[in-house]
Amino acid sequence: MYQIIDGKKIAQEIKEELREKVAAWKEQGKHFCLAVIQVGNDPASSVYVGNKKKACAYIGIDSLSYELSEETSQQELLELVEKLNVDDKVNGILVQLPLPKQIDEHKIIQAIAPDKDVDGFHEKNVGALCVGSKGYVSCTPLGIIQLLKRSKVEIEGKNCVVIGRSNIVGKPMALLLLRENGTVTVCHSRTQNIKEITKQADILIVAVGKPQFIDDSYVKEGAVVIDVGIHRDANNKLCGDVDFEKVAPHTSAITPVPGGVGPMTIAMLMYNCVQNAM
Ligand code: GUN
Repeated sequence: MYQIIDGKKIAQEIKEELREKVAAWKEQGKHFCLAVIQVGNDPASSVYVGNKKKACAYIGIDSLSYELSEETSQQELLELVEKLNVDDKVNGILVQLPLPKQIDEHKIIQAIAPDKDVDGFHEKNVGALCVGSKGYVSCTPLGIIQLLKRSKVEIEGKNCVVIGRSNIVGKPMALLLLRENGTVTVCHSRTQNIKEITKQADILIVAVGKPQFIDDSYVKEGAVVIDVGIHRDANNKLCGDVDFEKVAPHTSAITPVPGGVGPMTIAMLMYNCVQNAM
């Protein structure tokens, strides 16, 4: 029988822990404030941003909300980021991605002060992760490490295979697993004989971005499978990158979609916000 890794429950535990810490720190006069910027009104982004603001309120972090029009210029956004960079009341700055096409995402991310970059996307924070120094780490991979640890999945010495090499998930995921002493392989769209590699995985992290792409033919019996994807299937039901029904019976533990990785991303964003303000 396999374990379903309950991301909703683990995220709630983390939020409770943070809520208690924030309350205690507030009594000592510390304050917490996250600035959230959304450009345009992409419906998925609006849902994510709304959930982030709700989580802030729950934990006791103030949130400043900037909702800018789709036509906002790169210069206008840069000016807002600069203003927030020097605002002592603001501990964290989050610019929701994707941005409209007239704005260079990379330029904006690099403009955020690294010590307020609670997404962990700035080159300085990515570099810090790479060499093992202190810095912010991207929330989704950070959340996956917490899911594994709190579900008592050992990483050290295990064959860890990450499918996907994005800056937000795949690359930081590989670095974090390495930091935990896993033996790490990264696969991507140009990888040859991918199943031969994924079938070696004790821990398989799937971030391919294709609905139900991974079936049981990719998975070793008894592996732990973490599904980062979130999509709508033909019946408009939420599903992941993994075909849960086919894969789950062959695993020892697996994350569901929804209720697996998703809630952890926000919990770890809250964790990052609170880290900064310490
Ligand atoms: N868009 C999708 N995921 C994320 C995230 O983690 N942070 C930001 N800023 N934008 C996103």
